[in-house]
Amino acid sequence: MTTPTPGPLALGPFQLPNRLFVAPMAGVTDRPFRVLCKKLGAGYAVSEMVTSRKDLWNSLKTSRRANHEGEPAPISVQIAGTEAAMMAEAAAYNIDRGAQIIDINMGCPAKKVCNKWAGSALMQDEPLALEIIEAVVAACAPRGVPVTLKMRTGWCQAEKNAVALARAAESAGIAMVTVHGRTREQGYTGQAEYDTIAAVKAALRIPVVANGDIDSPRKAREVLAATGADAIMVGRAAQGRPWIFAEIAHFLATGEELPAPRIADAKRWLVEHLHDHYSLYGELTGMRSARKHIGWAVRALPGGEDFRRRMNLLESCEAQVDALSGWLDALADEHDRLPYLAALDAANDEQDQDEDQERRLTA
Ligand SMILES: Cc1cc2nc3c(=O)[nH]c(=O)nc-3n(C[C@H](O)[C@H](O)[C@H](O)COP(=O)(O)O)c2cc1C
Repeated sequence: MTTPTPGPLALGPFQLPNRLFVAPMAGVTDRPFRVLCKKLGAGYAVSEMVTSRKDLWNSLKTSRRANHEGEPAPISVQIAGTEAAMMAEAAAYNIDRGAQIIDINMGCPAKKVCNKWAGSALMQDEPLALEIIEAVVAACAPRGVPVTLKMRTGWCQAEKNAVALARAAESAGIAMVTVHGRTREQGYTGQAEYDTIAAVKAALRIPVVANGDIDSPRKAREVLAATGADAIMVGRAAQGRPWIFAEIAHFLATGEELPAPRIADAKRWLVEHLHDHYSLYGELTGMRSARKHIGWAVRALPGGEDFRRRMNLLESCEAQVDALSGWLDALADEHDRLPYLAALDAANDEQDQDEDQERRLTA
């Protein structure tokens, strides 16, 4: 079965090339990682959240988050906060620094801002959520900048207000809504559910994006079918596997799974990403924060866990790049493509079954 190839999607003045998005993840989807995902098939990426607290805008962390150099358009920046006027100011500040789309975070348990929890906590207070949405839209609309909203299904199981909030947001001028199929109370536990996302989709005219637990091309197709969503957003599964977007696109178009990437290609992409990462963060911070990306890239490969432990002891960017390159070269002596452990296990199971059958037939 194939799914009609999801074509471009209009978002305000922008045509997104496809409907496969990278989820905003603080500490992960910085500019180098977004560029990598876009290069490998993602049609759209949202920045890590930027606080609405002015006193933090000059901090190194926030200014790195506002760095969009070399990122293919549209540049989408997520803002988080609890106060409407501050959120409107944060939107304007980020537009001045290159943001072409502003995303409001009501999806992630953002850290305390002004002694209140921002992000998904706002779903508990619909009037405040709406006040923020209206203020941000009012700041962005005159500048032709679309405002999008990321939310969860609700505050808790008994209070799933995603449909009501999404409807109100649409009326207030929001251009696209993303729903993570969990409540705020759930955190990341349990499984994402897609019925609420389907209900949001059915209730709105603007594009709706489905998010939560999409970790394979097949799951992407299931979620699209279950929700009728206009697009899907992938977070954790893209960590260490940024080519998942190309894999999903191929599967939706053909109904066939792409083979894993060639090791030589994966090495080139990962090493380029590391250099881009170091250039944003500098030697020391870059070397430390790159460890998680390398760890994710090798975790599903044979010997990956052992390599990760050794790599974590290295203390320079050059040593990291050399170690990863050498390790992948050694893997390439035995395999052409990334030998994912799950695929090796499945192949072994199949071989065992074939051998069992052969034994039975020849017994
Ligand atoms: C490390 C991490 C950081 C995250 N940071 C943000 C964030 O800054 N803003 C946001 O809206 N959601 C954030 N999220 C939530 C993701 O965008 C996404 O909704 C969630 O991970 C579910 O999607 P997934 O199952 O594909 O990972 C974060 C998730 C993770 C794992």
